[in-house]
Amino acid sequence: MINKSDFKLLIVKTEKDVFKEAAKIVCNEIKKKPNLVFGLATGKTMKPFYKELIYHYKKHHFDFSRVKTFNLDEYYPISGKSRNSFRYFMEKNFFRHVNIKEENIHFLSGNTKDYEKECKNYERMIKEEGGIDLQVLGIGVNGHIGFNEPNSSFQSLTRMVKLSKSTIKQNSKYFFNENFPKYALTMGIKTIMNSKKIILIAVGKKKSVAIKKTLSGKISRKIPASILRRHKNVEFIISSDVASDLKLSI
Ligand code: GLP
Repeated sequence: MINKSDFKLLIVKTEKDVFKEAAKIVCNEIKKKPNLVFGLATGKTMKPFYKELIYHYKKHHFDFSRVKTFNLDEYYPISGKSRNSFRYFMEKNFFRHVNIKEENIHFLSGNTKDYEKECKNYERMIKEEGGIDLQVLGIGVNGHIGFNEPNSSFQSLTRMVKLSKSTIKQNSKYFFNENFPKYALTMGIKTIMNSKKIILIAVGKKKSVAIKKTLSGKISRKIPASILRRHKNVEFIISSDVASDLKLSI
């Protein structure tokens, strides 16, 4: 049984409604703070969400010029120019369509040799910007957030991780002409939890088990996203198909 009073949960009818609601929150936060430090995610779920933000930019002249971005993760090793990289994904699906300034974009480099230094620098840069104001998250079918796979420490910071079999299976569908990397650099769970506000979006029946385990039962390292229930300002926005297995007490 899920006690909805523990966290904010918005269940909307269609997938489109999820992206609209999430984009609305982002735009409100940017209105309140035009130089918002915005944590970004990648994945199939994020594409239509970025489309909504692009819509606000194109139709309503919404201004992203002072927004600073930090992406959650990147494959390792990979070149930022590779069509399989998250850097490329962001360029294609969001950055090139809005007026975000190149110098305000922060990314973990997937082709650095000194990945430990890269990860430390990333943590330092986030701190120097005053921390992440708003982090948008998707969720893996195994409950991962960023690339924090099951059993990641809740105290983890930005670091290199080994990808799980489940993630490799899911994500290699979208990979081409290159061997799938076995590792990634990712913000840690503590890095994510330090964000002032978090929204997690999930659509499609495929995510219903991960969401059910995230929102009910024990908070456990086995389901990394479950720790989000301890965050003071988190909102889960999901479509009705994801929510179909949830037993809610309101
Ligand atoms: C990747 C990303 C996650 C994302 C997850 C789900 O593994 N590292 O940040 O949430 O995929 O992606 P999708 O929306 O494609 O299911």
